[in-house]
Amino acid sequence: MDLKSKIDTTRLPGHIAIIMDGNGRWAQKKGEARLFGHQHGVESVRKIATTSAELGIRYLTLYAFSTENWKRPQYEVDALMDLLVHTLNQELDTLMKNNIRLKAIGDLSRLNTDCHKQLMQTMESTSKNERMELILALNYSGRWELCEATRKIAVEVVEGRMSAEEISSDTIDKFLSTAGMPEPELLIRTGGENRVSNFLLWQIAYSELYFTNVFWPDFREKDLYEAIINYQNRERRFGMISEQINQAFDK
Ligand code: IPE
Ligand code: IPE
Ligand code: MG
Repeated sequence: MDLKSKIDTTRLPGHIAIIMDGNGRWAQKKGEARLFGHQHGVESVRKIATTSAELGIRYLTLYAFSTENWKRPQYEVDALMDLLVHTLNQELDTLMKNNIRLKAIGDLSRLNTDCHKQLMQTMESTSKNERMELILALNYSGRWELCEATRKIAVEVVEGRMSAEEISSDTIDKFLSTAGMPEPELLIRTGGENRVSNFLLWQIAYSELYFTNVFWPDFREKDLYEAIINYQNRERRFGMISEQINQAFDK
């Protein structure tokens, strides 16, 4: 039986988030410059986005650039920004053909003018697409997002639209950049590191984490299928005990 047919299509994760890591090491292993890895990572983005849409995943969030990634050598940061502009431009066809809507989370105000403009254009052009939302996390970090949300909630309280006692988990959800999106059921990190590197800190509270040694430029359909199958074989208990979960399913 092939891998794809082992996936239970009635129990797909609605939202998959991916920390696309390992581009630099992939290139260095081949004796190439790190940028070569980033360029090849684009192919993986295309393959994984289209495969996810075909499978019926509704939201795919990709960690493309963290608030900490500005600390990299300037030429690498510049190259990543150029690659983003070029890719958004080049992949518009793919997004339209696959009925994928592009969105972005993160502090987009710090992106350079070209990047910002291209991003806005691609988001606008794909805004009517509805098969899947592809969310790029750009100049994003979980702590940045939580600080932003806290600031906005503080303003609500100071200006009298909300009392401090009213602040709940739902309030925080509403002020995050992911407001309105379901939380990711599955978080994948490629590249062999077992950490979350400041990604979606609030939203992954109950996500299933899946770490693979495969470097992002090598990550293909079969790797995605493996991650989903692995996810489907887990028991998500949300603090309860196994018997309660099984009872809920029997009902
Ligand atoms: C992920 O690959 C891409 C970005 C963070 C932009 P890396 O560039 O982190 O690759 P490694 O981890 O150094 O191999
Ligand atoms: C995380 O990868 C960020 C992205 C994939 C965009 P990093 O390579 O920046 O993470 P660390 O530095 O190894 O934790
Ligand atoms: Mg890395």
